Amino acid sequence: MTHTEPAFAKLNLTLDILGKREDGYHDMRMVMQSIDLHDVVTITPREKAGLTLTTDLPFLPKGDGNIASKAAARFFQSTGLPAPGLSIDIRKSIPVCAGMAGGSSDGAAVLRTLRRLCAPDMPPRRLEEIGALVGSDVPYCVRGGTALAEGRGERLTDLPPLPPCFLVVCKPACSVSTPELFGLVRTKRLRCHPDTAGLLSALEHGDLEAASHRFYNVFEDVLPRRYSQVFEIKGALLERGAMAASMTGSGPSVFGLFRDEEPARQAAEALEASCQTVFLCRPAAREDIQW
Ligand code: C5P
Repeated sequence: MTHTEPAFAKLNLTLDILGKREDGYHDMRMVMQSIDLHDVVTITPREKAGLTLTTDLPFLPKGDGNIASKAAARFFQSTGLPAPGLSIDIRKSIPVCAGMAGGSSDGAAVLRTLRRLCAPDMPPRRLEEIGALVGSDVPYCVRGGTALAEGRGERLTDLPPLPPCFLVVCKPACSVSTPELFGLVRTKRLRCHPDTAGLLSALEHGDLEAASHRFYNVFEDVLPRRYSQVFEIKGALLERGAMAASMTGSGPSVFGLFRDEEPARQAAEALEASCQTVFLCRPAAREDIQW
């Protein structure tokens, strides 16, 4: 019997870095949003012991280096349950190294599926804790929807959903190294921070306009010059009528928010000329996630 699960991409509506911790990680405050762009993760139990991983992207790590394999290993380590033979297959739609948590989301989909198969009574919160051992964005990806993520990313608070809208997501050809970008951050020198409280209040009121004015990612302020395309894409999205545009995660993907579908579609078509990959997306809700 195969088990198929969508693994939704995420966008950062805000990303704030509060300080560097003694363990080398950073304390974060981020408002995260799932979108309907998703990979498809299929898990098939098999008789032969061990785990195999296949994907449709030949350059992705196949063995323990893949976050989906790590998630499976952590699940059985943490629960103490005997690991059955498993095949995991991942069909990728979320761009890799794009700031959209593609790998973390695949890992989270593996965790949710293994819970359903092997430990259906496990509280979701416990699954998020196992996710935190796999990667900083995994606990949020386990839960999904609209959420505030704090600490390393493991302290989650559910938020009211982003009101209905359209999101044009553009991934330029370049890739950004997340550890390198964190290495450029001097938290005391960050001059601007997102108005996270303002965004939470706008979400409470279901006010899309006020919410969009609070999108802000502090990583944009330390992005090396060679990533100027990020700012060109932001400019192009705003010129084409986006209510707001921001980089997501450690980039380099940029998204623009539109109230209506037609201008969003036109912007997406216009951006396709200059950008490697462009998606027209909608927010995904927590209820879209299979438990
Ligand atoms: O936890 P994850 O493996 O996703 O983190 C990748 C890298 O990003 C870490 O090695 C660290 O350099 C950086 N990071 C950080 N603070 C966080 C999350 C990630 O410094 N809260």
